[in-house]
Amino acid sequence: MKEIDTVPFEVNQLLEAVYFRYGYDFRHYARESIERRILYRVVHSELDNVSQMIAKLVHEPDYFNLFLNDMSVTVTDMFRDPLVFKKIRTQVFLQFKTYSRINIWHAGCATGEEVYAMAIMLEEEGLLDRSQLYATDFNNHSLTLAKEGIYSQQHMSKYQKNYKKSGGKNKLADYYHTKHEHIKFDQELRQHITFANHNLVKDKEFAQMHLVMCRNVLIYFDHQLQQRVLNLFNNSLVDRGYLVLGREETLGSAKMHALFESVDAKYRIYRCTACV
Ligand SMILES: C[S@@+](CC[C@H](N)C(=O)[O-])C[C@H]1O[C@@H](n2cnc3c(N)ncnc32)[C@H](O)[C@@H]1O
Repeated sequence: MKEIDTVPFEVNQLLEAVYFRYGYDFRHYARESIERRILYRVVHSELDNVSQMIAKLVHEPDYFNLFLNDMSVTVTDMFRDPLVFKKIRTQVFLQFKTYSRINIWHAGCATGEEVYAMAIMLEEEGLLDRSQLYATDFNNHSLTLAKEGIYSQQHMSKYQKNYKKSGGKNKLADYYHTKHEHIKFDQELRQHITFANHNLVKDKEFAQMHLVMCRNVLIYFDHQLQQRVLNLFNNSLVDRGYLVLGREETLGSAKMHALFESVDAKYRIYRCTACV
């Protein structure tokens, strides 16, 4: 019999099974990276093939939680791509200074470093008191860590450098307390942030936003899902609201280019031109 590669077929079956059993829909995630992560788990579970993994996933909820973690790449940093933050500070915030209330949504916030960076920047520009930040992810484990606001001290010198490059006015250490090997961000920052589970694949908009930050999330989705999520942001934003994507991410269609104008192409900052 002719040898054929059954992995793509088995992966389809697995994604259908996960959707049927747990309601999580990964069918429109970027195929190459999803296959790679599934095969990694097959090897590390000492299974012979993807089909064996389907049975395990369907019958073992704890194993599914492991799978869920595999599907969620939570790599992040404070002031990641600092010049993007600088641009937001100098350009977007100029507009925000004329607003009485500011809503910001960090979609796919991972362990929260990005949202604390935003809160610090708002504080330094005198905007935090009128701001509400929403930080969402579908990974509950990451959200728990984000909510705690506790991070390893070993990253802080790198974050301090990023902070300065982003236009930081003080010392990053002014915003946290150190205990042993860890730091915890101050309550003054945390009280402006709401952390919540939100799945970009199926959940709806939940408030009117002035800025949506969704960086390094769309790269894990296929074109169809990217367009769905961009539509969701379009529905979430106030008219002339801002959208910031990751360095490798774009609007990807003529339809989206009709809904958003580019504010800064290099830093992937867009503005909604047709929001309600
Ligand atoms: C690489 S991190 C990006 C973190 C941060 N935005 C940054 O740029 O540093 C990607 C995050 O997207 C989240 N994510 C992936 N699929 C998601 C979905 N369907 N709904 C919500 N979050 C999702 C992952 O759990 C992960 O925390």
